[in-house]
Amino acid sequence: MSTLAIEGMQWGDEGKGKITDYYAAKADIVVRSQGGNNAGHSIQHNGVRYALRLLPSGILQKNVVNILADGTVINPASLLEEIDNIHKKGVEEIHLLISTRATVLMPYHIALDKAREEALGDAKIGTTKNGIGPAYEDRSARLSLRFGDLLDKEYLRKRLHAILPLKNKEIVAYGGEAFEEETLYKELCEEADKLAPMITDTTSYLQKAYKEGKKILFEGAQGAMLCLTYGTFPYVTSSSPLATAIPSNTGLPLSAVNEVLGIMKAYTTRVGEGPFPSEIFGEEAQTIRDKGHEYGTVTHRPRRIGWLDIPQLKYVISISGVKHIAIMLLDVLSVVDEIKILTKYTIDGKEIDYMPASLWELEKVKGEFLTLPSWKEDISSVRKYEDLPANCRNYISTIEKLLGVSIDLISVSPEAEATIIRNHNIF
Ligand code: IMO
Ligand code: MG
Repeated sequence: MSTLAIEGMQWGDEGKGKITDYYAAKADIVVRSQGGNNAGHSIQHNGVRYALRLLPSGILQKNVVNILADGTVINPASLLEEIDNIHKKGVEEIHLLISTRATVLMPYHIALDKAREEALGDAKIGTTKNGIGPAYEDRSARLSLRFGDLLDKEYLRKRLHAILPLKNKEIVAYGGEAFEEETLYKELCEEADKLAPMITDTTSYLQKAYKEGKKILFEGAQGAMLCLTYGTFPYVTSSSPLATAIPSNTGLPLSAVNEVLGIMKAYTTRVGEGPFPSEIFGEEAQTIRDKGHEYGTVTHRPRRIGWLDIPQLKYVISISGVKHIAIMLLDVLSVVDEIKILTKYTIDGKEIDYMPASLWELEKVKGEFLTLPSWKEDISSVRKYEDLPANCRNYISTIEKLLGVSIDLISVSPEAEATIIRNHNIF
């Protein structure tokens, strides 16, 4: 297969970076198609750890072209800082293309994100405060600057002059300070000069590459349950992390997404607010949080912890066509005595077979759980499926049966080589 989409199946932070990094080495092109620097992907390369936010995970591979495609929202300052950090770590050459159609995330988007969250009080979403929502809003409102606009300074000035007064009205209404046009324009021009060589029509670039049979990896950011439409609205992000959104975020035809690999943890986590039917608390949660280092890479917030949630995962498989699964952080469950799996959703004692769209309904959901024994052995050095403890294999096969999708990759420790690969033909 010449293309592969990687999709987070939960609420983000599933360990997509590690798997993306593994496939990036086999790819010609790695594409980020949505989101912005709300993502935090940590990858290990030649023994060095890199925390990537905007840069696609193929950025450390010499022969890979990395693309920030049409559906992304990019803060130029934060992109330049990330590029700088990569260079500082000794990576000299990078191959990055930025779509002329990608949205410019502006300082006022960050100000608005923060002001909104504050104004919402207890109803806040718990965003990463990077301005993601306001940037996507402006895109839908047709009030945003796009990277192609940075290539013509006169046009850029005209657009900013038209847009900024509207944004400033909003900011001032929240009690903030208006942004100065000249300052913003100067900053943008400086950033534009640095980024201009990378800004191009990635739509036609990708179409041509696809026709030529180039191997293209679509790197997902966030997770399916954070999807603006299908996630736990309003506690979601402002784009769609689903593989089905890739065509409209890259300009490639539907048929260009050959394989979809869903990434899930061996348990569930989420950051920010919102319902979480399989959530656990107290000591049980803390043991997993500590062993799994479950603190946000972007915001350092302790992540909320829960068991695997089968109805949630089945829902994601049904809306996004996941054909293969990679299970991450399986080694973490060595620290618990028994493992639970949420197998059914009930409301008022009756099973439901759909994902409630509204919070008021999702909040009523109770889970029915299956309990399995854990394995206490350290599995981090296991490299063959057969060598996993019987209880561990039982956990994997139980999940496969419940989901009806094969678990083709199993990660048993953060290191790149600590992955059991059961299917070598995905990409
Ligand atoms: P990766 O790619 C985990 C969450 C935020 C918040 C909600 C909205 O690392 O998996 P936003 O800033 O996007 O408006 O915040 O979405 N969120 C993530 N949670 N991992 C991510 O990305 C996330 N990106 C956004 O915590 O609840
Ligand atoms: Mg994250």
